[in-house]
Amino acid sequence: MITRRSALSVTLAAGGAALTGAGLTPLLAARARPTTRAAAKAQTVEKFRRPMPLLPEKRPAGRTGKADVYVMTMKPARAQILPGPPTDVLTYDGHFPGPLIRARAHRPVIIRQRNRLTVPTAVHLHGAAVPPGSDGDPMDVIEPGTDRVYHYPNRQPHAPLWFHDHAHHLEAENTYRGLSGSYLLTDATERALPLPRGAYEVVIALRDARFDAGGQLAYAMGDRARNTLLANGVPYPYFQVAARKYRLRLLNASNQRRFELRLADGSPLTQIGSDGGLLTAPHTTDRIALSAGERADVVVDFSRYPVGTSVVLKNTTGTGPAEEIGEILRFDVVRTAHDPSRIPARLRTLPPLPRPDTQRTVVLRMDEGGEHPGAYIDEKEYDPQRVDARIKFNTSELWTVTNANARAEHNFHLHLVQFRVLERAGRPPEPGESGLKDTIHLAPGETVRLQAVFDNYRGRYLYHCHMFEHGVRGMMATMHIQ
Ligand code: C2O
Ligand code: CU
Ligand code: CU
Repeated sequence: MITRRSALSVTLAAGGAALTGAGLTPLLAARARPTTRAAAKAQTVEKFRRPMPLLPEKRPAGRTGKADVYVMTMKPARAQILPGPPTDVLTYDGHFPGPLIRARAHRPVIIRQRNRLTVPTAVHLHGAAVPPGSDGDPMDVIEPGTDRVYHYPNRQPHAPLWFHDHAHHLEAENTYRGLSGSYLLTDATERALPLPRGAYEVVIALRDARFDAGGQLAYAMGDRARNTLLANGVPYPYFQVAARKYRLRLLNASNQRRFELRLADGSPLTQIGSDGGLLTAPHTTDRIALSAGERADVVVDFSRYPVGTSVVLKNTTGTGPAEEIGEILRFDVVRTAHDPSRIPARLRTLPPLPRPDTQRTVVLRMDEGGEHPGAYIDEKEYDPQRVDARIKFNTSELWTVTNANARAEHNFHLHLVQFRVLERAGRPPEPGESGLKDTIHLAPGETVRLQAVFDNYRGRYLYHCHMFEHGVRGMMATMHIQ
């Protein structure tokens, strides 16, 4: 294995120092540059000092002929997030963020969730089609000290899913304090493709957070000062890569923040998938936008960079000082590697949408200002007793969803189904939104038309804005499929 030192000397020999344009930094210079920012502002974390960890892979406690069985414990833990004292967090199995579960289509997963926290929880597998009793409904909680078994049939195509807390009125804070994890569902279609895999397929869970002077997570409803960005639980890490293609499975696990990701040198990113799995064809872009809860599957070809250079993953949207929210992590290209992977021109086929049986409108709005601003779907705050949309089983519906706010952003998430975007602001969706989606961003005043088929389970499920604090304030509703 090539050490960092020898990688650096390779750079110098190859004349890597000439490659300092637009965001491309020779490693040596990046290391030698004094970090004055930390001195100037005590709260700011020094960037690119720690490696980005991989999410720990959760192993089943057992495999039966019918299912993979897991046991997971929700418990408090202390995580070394900042250089100082450790941070108290809420975790799945002691990990911040939670672990990665790998599942296969048509192979059910059963998870016994043990709540050893002092608050009620509900575990929701975001993006999955599961029976209503396993969806983690806000009222269907696991009381502290008790257990609950969730059944995930995995009768759906491959998709990058994730799980997080959903207990009524607590989901925003519980998730913020650490209750989120990843769940990659794969299938034969996906596995047949020559995409980067193994060590070259990496889940990156992004989020923001605010820490107090003692290094503890500060939580306030709708806080606009969560300006520390974490990748897999570490603020502004570096990640050592080989000069070849990587498949990055990106998740925005923030409570509210939307990211717009770019490579600092403007190099292209190849988006191959979204919330509901692969796109039909790869799409080359210079930016990936992810609102809270959304996922993107992106291939980056680091072979364009000489060994010894590095490139920063930037964020180019949102509130906060640029030095805190403008950069997320740094990829350091430290070695060469053989690369047999390829991005095929066709990735999958999606079934044509049937003619919709029903149309429906949904209006998202919140009070902009005031002490305790309300948030509404169709002018109503969430009431777990009320059914807001009655849907006939085995029908297809076209939903016209509008953000009625002049300034506030929202997004829209449907439980149970993956939908297709037909139109955004009167135009066909961008290529990155043309596949299967379960969460979609809505800029102020914007309208999105989407279509879903309700043919998997009957029962009550949620739909809501996935900016958690909007949901907690009431921007959440219930559909009943019957
Ligand atoms: Cu991630 Cu109700 O959802
Ligand atoms: Cu969900
Ligand atoms: Cu919202």
